[in-house]
Amino acid sequence: MDRSELQQLVTSYHEQHRCLIGFNINDVYDLHAVSLAANEIDKPVMVMTYPPVVELNTSYLCRKMVDGFLPLSQNPIYLHLDHSTSVDMCKQAIDDGYDSVMIDGSQKSLTENITMTREVVKYAAPAGVLVEAEIGKIKGRDVVVKSEDDYLASVSDAKAIYEEAGPDILAVGIGTAHGFTPTTPKIHFNRLEEIAAAIRIPLVLHGGTGIPDADILRAIQTGVVKLNVGTIVHTTYMKELYTEIGKDVDTAYPPFLMKEVIPRIKDVVLDRLKAVQAT
Ligand code: 13P
Repeated sequence: MDRSELQQLVTSYHEQHRCLIGFNINDVYDLHAVSLAANEIDKPVMVMTYPPVVELNTSYLCRKMVDGFLPLSQNPIYLHLDHSTSVDMCKQAIDDGYDSVMIDGSQKSLTENITMTREVVKYAAPAGVLVEAEIGKIKGRDVVVKSEDDYLASVSDAKAIYEEAGPDILAVGIGTAHGFTPTTPKIHFNRLEEIAAAIRIPLVLHGGTGIPDADILRAIQTGVVKLNVGTIVHTTYMKELYTEIGKDVDTAYPPFLMKEVIPRIKDVVLDRLKAVQAT
C-alpha cells in the first residue's frame, strides 16, 4: 500500500521542521471559517471531530461535510478523528473515509494502550489512514492526573508503543492542557527532546489554545509536526454567536447571524496558522 498524501506530508514536515495545525470543528460553520483561513494563508490544514460530534452526526456525515469544502479549497483539508477512546469508532471513521484517526488509550494501562493502538493501526493500514496514539496525559477536562509523573510521558512508554503498535504519529503529555489555563502551562522540553531522540516518528502537541507562540515554535524544532487547537475556536464561535443572538433574539435567523460570526472565527484560526508560519 502506497503511503497516503497525508502520511507523506507529515514525513516531509518532520524533516523540514514544519507544522500542520489540526482545528477541532463542530459543524459546517466553523469548518467554513477554517477553510476561509486556510485559503487566505494558502496552506494545508486539518480539521478534527471529537467523539461527541461523531456520535451526534456520524463519521459518514462529517466526511461528506468536509468533502463539500474540498472543491472550494486551494490546499488539502484533512479530516481527523480526535481523542477516540473507542476502537470501533476509529474503525467506522476509517470505513467512512477519514484521513486520520487518534486512538486515545492514555487513560488505560500501557499494555491496553498498546493493544488498542495495534488493532487500529492494523485496520488503518490497508486504507492508508494515519494513526495517532497517545502516551502520557494531556491535562484538563475529565483527565485524571494523580501526580507529575502520572501525566508526563515516559521515554520507555513512548518507545514501547512505537515499537509494539506502530502508530504514524504520537501525542505526548509533556505539560500542556486542554482549554484555557489559569497559568501558562510549563512544557517539559527536556522530555520532549528525549522522546524525539528515542523514536523516529513525528510528535503531536495537544492543548494548542494555551501554548505561547515561542513554545510552539520551540516544540516544532524538537519534532512536533502537528499542533491541536480547539477551545479558542469553539469559545469564539459560542461567544460571538451569543452576542449576535442577544441583539434581537426574536428575529435571530441563523444564516444572518453566522455571516457575522464566521469571519470572527476565521480571524482566530488565521492567527494560529500564522503562529506556525515561520516553520
Ligand atoms: P485546546 O482546546 O487547548 O486548543 O486543545 C485542543 C486539543 O488538544 C484537541 O485534541
